[in-house]
Amino acid sequence: MAIVQNWLPPSRENWELVCYIWQFFPVITAFQWLLDWYPQGKTSTECRFNIPGAIGWCTMESVGFTTLLYIMFTLPEEQGIEELPWGNWTMAACFVIHYIYRAVVSPLFLNPSMSPIHPLVWAMAALFQWFNAVSIGGWLAGHGPTTVNDWAGRYWTMEIGLVIWAWGLLGNIFHDDDLREIRRAADRKQRREAKEQGKPLEGVAKIYMLPKNGLFQYILYAHYFCEWVEWAGFWMVGGWNCHPARAFLINEITTMLPRAVQGKRWYIKKFGKDKVGNRKAVIPGLV
Ligand SMILES: NC(=O)c1ccc[n+]([C@@H]2O[C@H](COP(=O)([O-])OP(=O)(O)OC[C@H]3O[C@@H](n4cnc5c(N)ncnc54)[C@H](OP(=O)(O)O)[C@@H]3O)[C@@H](O)[C@H]2O)c1
Repeated sequence: MAIVQNWLPPSRENWELVCYIWQFFPVITAFQWLLDWYPQGKTSTECRFNIPGAIGWCTMESVGFTTLLYIMFTLPEEQGIEELPWGNWTMAACFVIHYIYRAVVSPLFLNPSMSPIHPLVWAMAALFQWFNAVSIGGWLAGHGPTTVNDWAGRYWTMEIGLVIWAWGLLGNIFHDDDLREIRRAADRKQRREAKEQGKPLEGVAKIYMLPKNGLFQYILYAHYFCEWVEWAGFWMVGGWNCHPARAFLINEITTMLPRAVQGKRWYIKKFGKDKVGNRKAVIPGLV
């Protein structure tokens, strides 16, 4: 059943239009290089319309995997496709696994605290998710490969791509968790002091330290870098001609790179040039 006729799930014409528009997303990210205002995370600001961090992340990031799943379960029927090949489902599973971690497990169960998000950042992220899910979902659910033959002869590159995807995801989770541990440790310390010295619990929101483990020794945004590795693997699974996976990777890099460069400036301001040392922002040895 279509929620919005020809849009959800998208007709081929509308899907092509979405993919066409989506490739221009990097143009929008140009403002991130020019403007330091980014009211989220470390650089969140006080605003009465702010959305609490965990709820914000859960809702904006859920748009992607729910939209993709909806398209996967409705478009094939509309296209008269009886069964999608396993390659399509494998890529859909990669996408959904990542976003269940990012949108549900991480904000609702794992993160000790998350800064509030300005509604504008929330809306941009939700829009990013929608465009991305329609672009990838449309390709996977009927406007891209539709038979096992479409995947034939590519099994080696698919397998290598899957391994890269999995290592990227594990690296992303590992480094996310290193950041969480900073606040978990602060929480343990506060609780100990509350018990032993009767000090009040202050909470761990907005407690920042320099992360040091894993790739954080070389780059301040190791979790971003691993996520790029993950989606590069995903593109490899889909193949060179999988333009939605390519657009996803390029669009992620173009929005996360300026954010990481801005983040490096933030770390230097907060902890000093000496403490940050010669660590790069996000690409080891380069940026
Ligand atoms: N931002 C994007 O454009 C974007 C796009 C696609 C995917 N992602 C992925 O989403 C995840 C989160 O992204 P993000 O931009 O929110 O990353 P982030 O700014 O590094 O924050 C990640 C989490 O760790 C906390 N944190 C960050 N630095 C810390 C430090 N030095 N000490 C203690 N805690 C710290 C943050 O708390 P606060 O919230 O209180 O700062 C937040 O809860 C990453 O894995 C990233 O790959 C992000």
